[in-house]
Amino acid sequence: MSLHRQMELLVEAPSTALSPEAGPLLKWIGNKHRFAREIVSYFPKGYKTYREPFLGSGAVLGTLAPERGVGSDSFEPLIEIWKALREDPQKLKRWYSERWHAMMDGKKVEKYERIKAHYNAKPNGPDLLFLSRACYGGVVRFRKADGYMSTPCGVHDPISPASFAKRVDEWHSRTAGTSFVLQDYRAAMEGASKGDLIYCDPPYTFTQSILYGAQAFDLKDLFRVIGECKKRGVNVALSIDGTKRSGSMVCNVPIPRSLFEREVMIHCGRSMLKRFQMNGKTLEKEVVHDRLLLTYELPT
Ligand SMILES: C[S@@+](CC[C@H](N)C(=O)[O-])C[C@H]1O[C@@H](n2cnc3c(N)ncnc32)[C@H](O)[C@@H]1O
Repeated sequence: MSLHRQMELLVEAPSTALSPEAGPLLKWIGNKHRFAREIVSYFPKGYKTYREPFLGSGAVLGTLAPERGVGSDSFEPLIEIWKALREDPQKLKRWYSERWHAMMDGKKVEKYERIKAHYNAKPNGPDLLFLSRACYGGVVRFRKADGYMSTPCGVHDPISPASFAKRVDEWHSRTAGTSFVLQDYRAAMEGASKGDLIYCDPPYTFTQSILYGAQAFDLKDLFRVIGECKKRGVNVALSIDGTKRSGSMVCNVPIPRSLFEREVMIHCGRSMLKRFQMNGKTLEKEVVHDRLLLTYELPT
């Protein structure tokens, strides 16, 4: 594709920014907030239940705001946060506010480390919620051996309780039709039936086993489960991080050809374009950051 065409596509691409209130609830490594609108534009027009079995910070779910949805993840403290959002959003605001005041009333780093130690002694949603917003670079990292959360305190000040509360309200209404379940992706996908839509954003075999604790992840098995879904008439969209893919392989795992009807490139959107232009760089190698594999034909 010519550079000119790529730039055209970027300029045409819908803005991926949500309203400020709907900015991410959590900061999560590998989140799809920048790509969410574009990913959603490749979803089929109609579906029964939307399912996101690798929920993380739920960027795509929050953007789609489905009438009926199921969000799931195998990481318990994370699902504790999502359940609180649904069942008792005031509690979520309190969790954040209490920790924010404790930390911002002085001795920021010391207070952060205290919350982190509390989390590491007994992993839990309330601490994780705050740590994700306050940690360095918003990158929550877990030690592979034992799941210990190791990220130091961020240099930034986490958003105020009032701003956070606005996000909670917005996300609460965007997830009004969604239930949240602590579940392995296999069980989550087996629960899908004809006419459902599943969006998968799995961890990648190489790096992310470190980021998500000791959970082993087998991409080959995900392909098998996607195949079973396709046979049952369930549509599946799978994100593949462009940096982890070369040719027809993801890391060292071949992508089964017959499984997917389409592959589309997901771009970064305008802000990236602007940045590259300002740096005087060419775009050829930089624009493509993510890929989306679809078990169905593109919507027209
Ligand atoms: C790349 S992240 C998803 C990011 C998400 N799209 C977002 O916007 O934040 C992958 C997620 O898969 C979860 N996960 C890892 N292994 C899993 C498994 N076996 N079953 C279900 N979820 C799993 C991790 O806890 C993590 O939240």
